[in-house]
Amino acid sequence: MERILVLNGPNLNLLGERDPGHYGTMTLAEVCDELRLSAEALGVEVECFQSNHEGELIDIIHRERKTSAGLIINPGALTHYSYAIRDAIEAVGLPAVEVHLSDIDSREPWRRNSVIRDVVVLTVSGKGPSGYLEALDELVRYIRSH
Ligand code: DQA
Repeated sequence: MERILVLNGPNLNLLGERDPGHYGTMTLAEVCDELRLSAEALGVEVECFQSNHEGELIDIIHRERKTSAGLIINPGALTHYSYAIRDAIEAVGLPAVEVHLSDIDSREPWRRNSVIRDVVVLTVSGKGPSGYLEALDELVRYIRSH
């Protein structure tokens, strides 16, 4: 069964209590439960990780590169400046979808830039937790058609 790696970066462990106006009230565990249900219906498996540390996220991308068919990633604020995460995604060559709960294009100017956008096949932004489900659907469709 294809395995999809789901990575969440800094501060996303606080989902549910952090700035609900932007990020909603669902916890990360609940988001991952929903992803697992959708994955089952799609006939794939998801593996969810969260880390507040850039290097650990990179280590996970490297470690899981051979066992995963694709990557869904919300790098949190690292989205806006981590060339190291960008390079890790490019280096492993996994098809990746970038997710943001909030609409990063309609917030502060510094959030509008994503340094990973050029190495992902799709960006889903501003759709709340359902953005992760859309990302899963689209990623599985992409993997199966390539
Ligand atoms: C975020 C948007 C980022 O700008 C922010 O730093 C986050 C979460 C989102 O999901 O909307 O931590 O990636």
